[in-house]
Amino acid sequence: MKSTIPEASLEEFFRLNEIFNHSKVKHPPKSVNLHNYFSETMIDKIKELIGEAEVFTTESKESLDAFRIKFISKKGLINEIFAEFKNVPNEQKKDFGQAINTLKKTVEEKIKTLQENFESKEEIKGIYGDLTRPGTPIPVGARHPISLVKNQVINIFSNIGFNVSEGPEIEDDWHNFEALNFPEHHPARDMQDTFFVQMNPDHLLRTHTSSVQVRYMENNQPPIRTISPGRVFRNEAISSRSHCIFHQVEGLYIDKDVSFADLKQTLLYFTKEMFGKSKIRLRPSYFPFTEPSAEVDVYWGLKTETDYRITKGTGWLEIMGCGMVDPNVLKASNIDPEEYSGFAFGMGLERMAMLLYQIGDIRMYFENDVRFLEQFKSNF
Ligand code: PHE
Repeated sequence: MKSTIPEASLEEFFRLNEIFNHSKVKHPPKSVNLHNYFSETMIDKIKELIGEAEVFTTESKESLDAFRIKFISKKGLINEIFAEFKNVPNEQKKDFGQAINTLKKTVEEKIKTLQENFESKEEIKGIYGDLTRPGTPIPVGARHPISLVKNQVINIFSNIGFNVSEGPEIEDDWHNFEALNFPEHHPARDMQDTFFVQMNPDHLLRTHTSSVQVRYMENNQPPIRTISPGRVFRNEAISSRSHCIFHQVEGLYIDKDVSFADLKQTLLYFTKEMFGKSKIRLRPSYFPFTEPSAEVDVYWGLKTETDYRITKGTGWLEIMGCGMVDPNVLKASNIDPEEYSGFAFGMGLERMAMLLYQIGDIRMYFENDVRFLEQFKSNF
């Protein structure tokens, strides 16, 4: 390419033009100054190349390399064009020189930015891996069905002003029995077959959450509105219907002039909210700490076969025990029964979860089989 253009050497002219576009150049008009014509065509071509370099972009290192080789390698276009500089007529040298400098700058900048782009992508890749890859799924856990039901009960009662209280699972005789009007040697204690702590027979695993009532009354003055969810223990044979560990929620309401009607209305509100059922009945029953006492049945209906099965064909399901707090219980916690009255209720959470989720065997709650637990993912 170091040859100068001999006057009117058309052959050489075409050859040089091929540097730029690998295509045949139109014959120059006969009358033109070939030198001028050539450098004008070159300047146009350089401008075209600047446009090409400006829009060039690539995701691959190979094509960036090809781009670099094409323009700025030893045998690249820019060198070849520079070599022609001396053949450019003086009056065109300035335009030609400017064009080629712009081309060089454009190409160099383009290479630099694309290079940086690759590097920063690689850096990100190094830190985070390939960000475009689909993520590794994070398994979502599920709440235990007992927790689900417990939280539901808490929500329902907190809407009518009940707070949540808790007590210890290892209790003393006073809180579990004595203060709840179970005198020593009273046969009512046999209703709840108890685990005692061998080292200290005064200590036992609480058989019901009613012990929390006593603790709450010891520490709080009426008006009292509290529910106490928790784990309880009884020495019962383990079967599909009963277990030695289960959960209860206790409710206690104490104020002036609390009546049995208040109890009934509160329970009706609860069954509506919890089960969507609005028919309940109270059957007389016995608990030492309430007088009168009752079992609460909810009318489940007899629409399906399951309804028949779980209600034993009656349509009614027992869901909890309740009653008006016995004056002896109030007295034991230094609350004046002449001034205050109240009601209490207690329900089993396992039974309730069995109804709501159609769980057939109480033992499933305690086996921690993930295949069982995973089924509650959607219930939060
Ligand atoms: N503690 C009783 C039980 O475990 C339930 C109950 C609570 C009954 C409060 C009446 C009032 O069976």
